[in-house]
Amino acid sequence: MVQTLEKNQVPGKAASTWTGSAREQAVQRMFTAIARFYDLNNSLLSFGLHHSWKRQAVSYIPPRSGTRALDLGAGTCDLAILLDAHLRHEGQVFAADLNEAMLRVGQQKVRGQNLTNQISCLQMNAEHLTFPDQTFETVTAGFCVRNVGNLSKALGEIYRVLKPGGRFVCLEFSRPVSPVFRTLYDWYSFKLLPWIGTVVARDGTGVYEYLPASIRNFPDQDRYCVLLKEAGFPSVEYHNVTGGIVAIHVAVK
Ligand SMILES: C[S@@+](CC[C@H](N)C(=O)[O-])C[C@H]1O[C@@H](n2cnc3c(N)ncnc32)[C@H](O)[C@@H]1O
Repeated sequence: MVQTLEKNQVPGKAASTWTGSAREQAVQRMFTAIARFYDLNNSLLSFGLHHSWKRQAVSYIPPRSGTRALDLGAGTCDLAILLDAHLRHEGQVFAADLNEAMLRVGQQKVRGQNLTNQISCLQMNAEHLTFPDQTFETVTAGFCVRNVGNLSKALGEIYRVLKPGGRFVCLEFSRPVSPVFRTLYDWYSFKLLPWIGTVVARDGTGVYEYLPASIRNFPDQDRYCVLLKEAGFPSVEYHNVTGGIVAIHVAVK
């Protein structure tokens, strides 16, 4: 079935179960609406933890000078900026995102920190990367892959643009390990968060419903390992962070 959105319809949780271009449209409309508040929202909803999650993800990348790195779904460019610092400003970082509004905020940060020589911001779809085969030593993605329309296509593209031996480091929401923690987390995600969105923030974008639903519908740690292997990566491991709320998958080509 092909799903379409009316002009002013918000994505909400239904969009998290969609696939393909309908999902892409819905998700992109949401990111356009929240781009200006994305960083603030991110810090509030994660209690500031996203900074440390991103630092941990970057630590899985060998800090070799001359490294060509692609940060996919770079959004407001936090991870791309950390990546550049991790490479001691001696690498070449490409920050790619499908969403112009998110990327504009990111580009402002890159300019503000005088990093335009090191970080290039590009509007690009993860499912159709315009780079030649075997371009990068590293590809990173922070909270991006959960949002793409066709995950296996995006993983195939990531695999294609990596050099042999290159690594894909993926930071994504996952499944808390402890059942008690999982219950608490589900209450926060499915009850408190939508309530905050409706009553406190008076949100009209649907993001407070989309976020927990998209996390629930994304494959858990082990299932995601299988998808990465199916995309061609012979070696895949993962590291749980904050009890498995987030997982860092490291896949080597
Ligand atoms: C939750 S934000 C994450 C931003 C940033 N990486 C971070 O960690 O804060 C997800 C980003 O993925 C981007 N995205 C979603 N689907 C995409 C696609 N098919 N190609 C490229 N970017 C995509 C969105 O536009 C959005 O900026």
